[in-house]
Amino acid sequence: MDFPIERVEAEHVARRDFAKFLCLVSGGMAVGSGWVAVQDRLFPPHRIQGDVFVCRKSDVPAGGTRGFTVPGSRTPFILIHLNDGSWRAYGQKCTHLSCAVYYSPDKDRIECPCHNGYFDASTGNVLQGPPPRPLPRLDVVLKGEDVFVREPKDA
Ligand code: FES
Repeated sequence: MDFPIERVEAEHVARRDFAKFLCLVSGGMAVGSGWVAVQDRLFPPHRIQGDVFVCRKSDVPAGGTRGFTVPGSRTPFILIHLNDGSWRAYGQKCTHLSCAVYYSPDKDRIECPCHNGYFDASTGNVLQGPPPRPLPRLDVVLKGEDVFVREPKDA
């Protein structure tokens, strides 16, 4: 019994399928990026009411971090105990395309692995890369041994 497609034609079909696959993947990535941008516009960040407890000071040594969320929101934040002993809290989603950022204590900066975006750990300002805005910041309030966050006064 003969197979009805010649080998040469079979390769053309495979290339055509591969091209379709590439178009689908590219289109999916474009739609995904667009959706992230639309979400940022349609769903403004949740406002924190009052002081929100995060952890005890002893839970995060200098150079360490702790991820947290606040009541009523699933937005991830990162609490950072800087090497100089001060504390910072930022939204953990990169302002470029929302990848999760992390603190690099060796370089004392916040890094986004997706496109090498770097942020100043003390201010949240962009140091390098495509992020268009600083990281959203929360004020850190220390009460005895407890660490709280609140909306910044200038927000
Ligand atoms: S998503 Fe962070 S630099 Fe692109």
